Amino acid sequence: MACCHYYMLEEGGDAAFSINVSQLTFGPGCIAEAGDRARELGLKRVALFTDRKLAALPFVQTAQQSLRDAGVDCAVYSEVDVEPTDASFQAAARFAQEGRFDGFVSVGGGSVIDTCKAANLFTTHPADFTDYVNAPIGAGRPVPGPLKAHIACPTTSGTGSETTGVAVFDFVARKLKTGIASKHMIPTLALVDPDAAATLPGTVLAASGFDALSHALECYTCRPHTMRAKPAHASARPLYNGANPWSDNAAREALRLIGKYLVRAVGDASDAEARGQMMYAGALAGMAFGNGGCHLPHGMSYAVAGLVRDYRAPDYPHAHPMVPHGMAVILNAPSVYRFTASACPERHLEGAECLGADIRGATPADAGEVVAKRIIEMMQATRFPAGLAAVGYGEADLSALADGAFPQKRLLDNSPRPASKDELAELFRGAMRYW
Ligand SMILES: [Fe+2]
Repeated sequence: MACCHYYMLEEGGDAAFSINVSQLTFGPGCIAEAGDRARELGLKRVALFTDRKLAALPFVQTAQQSLRDAGVDCAVYSEVDVEPTDASFQAAARFAQEGRFDGFVSVGGGSVIDTCKAANLFTTHPADFTDYVNAPIGAGRPVPGPLKAHIACPTTSGTGSETTGVAVFDFVARKLKTGIASKHMIPTLALVDPDAAATLPGTVLAASGFDALSHALECYTCRPHTMRAKPAHASARPLYNGANPWSDNAAREALRLIGKYLVRAVGDASDAEARGQMMYAGALAGMAFGNGGCHLPHGMSYAVAGLVRDYRAPDYPHAHPMVPHGMAVILNAPSVYRFTASACPERHLEGAECLGADIRGATPADAGEVVAKRIIEMMQATRFPAGLAAVGYGEADLSALADGAFPQKRLLDNSPRPASKDELAELFRGAMRYW
C-alpha cells in the first residue's frame, strides 16, 4: 500500500486533485469500432491522421473501412513526421482547417496522435502557434474550451498519448522539445487494440515499453499534489496534479504488467498475451502520468534526444540520427532513482516490487539501488544500450546535457527531490554506463 503520509497537506498546497481521462475501449479487433463510434459521436466528415508507412497497412485500412461502413466521410492525412516539429504541426493544422472536418481519427504512435491533437486545437481555437505552447517557451495561454471529437487508436504500446492531454514537438528554431498541454486535448475516445502490437519490431516495442515503465514510475514517485501550490482558480489547476491516489492505482497496475510482460513481449513476437498486455499497460500508464505527471527522466530525455550526433537505433528506419524517445528516457532512469529515492524511499521500493524486484530485507537506504537494479536487469534482458555512452555521449557532453534539461521546468518541478543544474550534470554522468 502507498504510504498515506505522502499526502500530508503542506502550507499553500492544493488539497484537491482533478482527474481527466478519455473514454477507453480495449480489446482485440476494436479498431473496427471506429466508424460506429464516430457515428455515435455525431460525426459526418473526419480527418484520419496516420503516417506514410502505416497508411498502407491493414490496421489503417480497417479503420477507413469501418468509417465508410458507418457512412462517415473520411480524408486521410499521412504527412506526419516521426518526430513532429512546430512546422509539421502547423502543416497538419492547415490541412484540418481547409478540410472543414467535424471530428478527427488518429491511427498511429504518439507522433501521429499528438499531431492530430494539435491540428484539432488550432482548427477549433485558432491562435498564433506559440500562444498555447508551454511557458516560458511559449505564452502558455489556456485552451479556451472543448475541441472537436477525436478518436485515438494507438499502434505502439508506450506513449499513452491516446489518454493524455499533451502534444510534444521539436521547436526547431529554439532547438528544444516542448509541448502543449490541456485537459481539452485529451482524446474523446481511445480504441486500444492489442493486435496493433503484433508486428512491432523488438527495439520499437522495447523503447515504447520502457517509456510506459518510466511514465508509471515517474508518476508514482513524483511530488504529491498536496505540495503543489494551490491555484488561484480551480480552472487553473494544472493537468499534471502531482502524485495523487487515483494515478497511484493506475501506475502500480501498469508497473506490475510491465514487470511481468515487457521482456517476454520484446523477446518473442508471437507472444500475443505479452504484447497485448503491454498495449493495456501503456494506456494505463498514460492515464496515470496524464493526471500525475512525470519528472527527471523525461525532463532529461529531451536533452538526450536533442543533442544526438550519429546514433541510429536498430529497427528505426530513419535517414537521420535519432535516440528514440523511450530510450532517451530510460537511459537516465537508474541514475535518477539513485538520486531521488531518499525523498520517498517507500514509493521507490513499492515501484521496484511492482516491477518484480525482490524487496525482502531492503531498507529505505537501499531503495534507489533496488529500483535501479531492477530497471537495469530489464534493459539487459531486452538487449538495450548500456547507458548514454552507448548512444554517443561522453564526459565532454555533461554540461550541454544539463543545459538542455534545465529549461524543462514543468517536469523538473515535479521531482520529489529538486535537482540543480550541477546535479543534473552528475545525474547524466551516472547514466553513462550501467554495466
Ligand atoms: Fe514518454
